[in-house]
Amino acid sequence: MDLHVPQAVEGPPPRTLADMARAGLIIESEGRTRLGDEFRIAASRLYTVVKGSIAAGERCGNMVLVTSTRPAEGKSFAALNMAASLARTGSRSVLLVDADAKVRCLSELIGLAGAPGLLDLAADDRLQPERMVVATPVPGLFILPLGDTLAGLEPGERSQPLPSAAEHLARRFAGSTLVIDTGPLLATSDPSVLAPTASQILMVVESGRTQRNELEAALEMIKGCPKVVLLLNKQAGRNRSSFGAYSYTGEYYAKPNAPPPQRPD
Ligand SMILES: Nc1ncnc2c1ncn2[C@@H]1O[C@H](COP(=O)(O)OP(=O)(O)O)[C@@H](O)[C@H]1O
Ligand SMILES: [Mg+2]
Repeated sequence: MDLHVPQAVEGPPPRTLADMARAGLIIESEGRTRLGDEFRIAASRLYTVVKGSIAAGERCGNMVLVTSTRPAEGKSFAALNMAASLARTGSRSVLLVDADAKVRCLSELIGLAGAPGLLDLAADDRLQPERMVVATPVPGLFILPLGDTLAGLEPGERSQPLPSAAEHLARRFAGSTLVIDTGPLLATSDPSVLAPTASQILMVVESGRTQRNELEAALEMIKGCPKVVLLLNKQAGRNRSSFGAYSYTGEYYAKPNAPPPQRPD
């Protein structure tokens, strides 16, 4: 693993499995699940693309952004489980970056509310990200919290510093894959601001809920990123016991006028 993480004495302690489960990590204590299998398949396809981007020498080839049109379509759930599956899949460590400053964000669910992170890095480029990275019980998976929103920047002030901070992270952790959990495109500017920096975007589409015209508007906002892959989230319900399914289309969705994706049954 090539994530040079010093065991920072002053940083937050490593997360526990209970912290991760609270944030939505699929725990397969009683054997494999279909949802877990789907993330494994999706992660291995994503891993192949990431390796290709890095081999091609793409700038920020190791950076993957996760977004969607609206809140609650499954971005953080997908980012967390994709990051964990990626860490288990390949030989690269994974840094899951929380970039969605909403109430009950990933950092908060995982017990890292207020811990220094991305927004602090964006506000002050002299800070050392290594000191902010938190270990998890999933081997090879690390988390960079959102950061202190009070010490950090207001949404309107992030259009320059946020991509710079992300690019800095991609270079600093060049041996790792970065999975950035951002907010919804139609409600916040951060994902569209970050899009041109990322080498690939996973666009979560919630089957039966994401509107075609909204998806088209959202895709238009991230056309600065050459590779946009749809990740279909088919939720039967919203609680943890519900059965959900993720499917990585593996097809770059570049044509705004193409019909919305249908999940094959
Ligand atoms: N496929 C799924 N199966 C079960 N629960 C899911 C699934 N997708 C999302 N959820 C749950 O739905 C809620 C909203 O998802 P979340 O990832 O927080 O959305 P977003 O980040 O897009 O706002 C969370 O409680 C999450 O754990
Ligand atoms: Mg989220």
